[in-house]
Amino acid sequence: MTSTSTGTETGQYRAAALRVTGLRRSFPHPGGDVDVLRGLELSVRGGELVTVSGRSGSGKSSLLALLCGFDAPDSGTVLFDGEPIGADTPWTTCAVLPQALGLAGELTIAENVALPLRLRGGARSVDSTAVTARVNALLTELRIDQLGDRYPLEVSFGQQQRAALARAVAARPTVLLTDEPTAHLDAGTTPAVLALLRRCADEGAAVIVATHDAQVHRIADRRVALKEGVLTESGPAVN
Ligand SMILES: Nc1ncnc2c1ncn2[C@@H]1O[C@H](COP(=O)(O)OP(=O)(O)O)[C@@H](O)[C@H]1O
Ligand SMILES: [Mg+2]
Repeated sequence: MTSTSTGTETGQYRAAALRVTGLRRSFPHPGGDVDVLRGLELSVRGGELVTVSGRSGSGKSSLLALLCGFDAPDSGTVLFDGEPIGADTPWTTCAVLPQALGLAGELTIAENVALPLRLRGGARSVDSTAVTARVNALLTELRIDQLGDRYPLEVSFGQQQRAALARAVAARPTVLLTDEPTAHLDAGTTPAVLALLRRCADEGAAVIVATHDAQVHRIADRRVALKEGVLTESGPAVN
């Protein structure tokens, strides 16, 4: 296989599925602008699971919003296989589990999870049997297979969170972004979420997880800490 990087990439970065350079973002506050990200740099390769730690308010969710294109930086670049994100960037390139989940309330849990699969490649080419099989497998793996026909507000927040994770991974994105994916889970369901995240990376995705959870850091290939608007390597995972 050859790299999908473009000619704008140097050889050094050819394998980086996600490359972030010089990312800056300030927010206006009554006492003056708050510089949340101050020239942040990050490269993540396919197959790598990277955890981002940092105290509450350090900017983890703001960073993920910039990476997936929900928000725009004041300056800096975010490249996926050498390409900037745009309105037409498909779920297969980048998918996100946001902190606020963002499930569509008018769709059932199963329909929400199926959405990226139905959008992939245009509705006419969708193989409904394959979509149903993939959705059912993910719901079963995340222990919400009894809830597929319910609407998001008819299940608990932790169950909604697992549905939003299933939706994010459904179309096997090149880059998977997840914000505190274990924050609302009970102890019984955390291992299933950890196993799924790890498998996504093992299957080739670049996986970025914002988290406070030591259990997630343990499955990481690399850990970075967000402090004062920049990322510093905090070393390989401790087993
Ligand atoms: N839309 C916004 N408007 C104003 N300030 C914001 C906005 N989003 C984030 N912030 C600021 O960015 C800081 C970082 O927030 P956030 O990214 O949610 O942190 P974390 O996810 O690490 O807890 C917050 O303290 C807040 O001041
Ligand atoms: Mg957050």
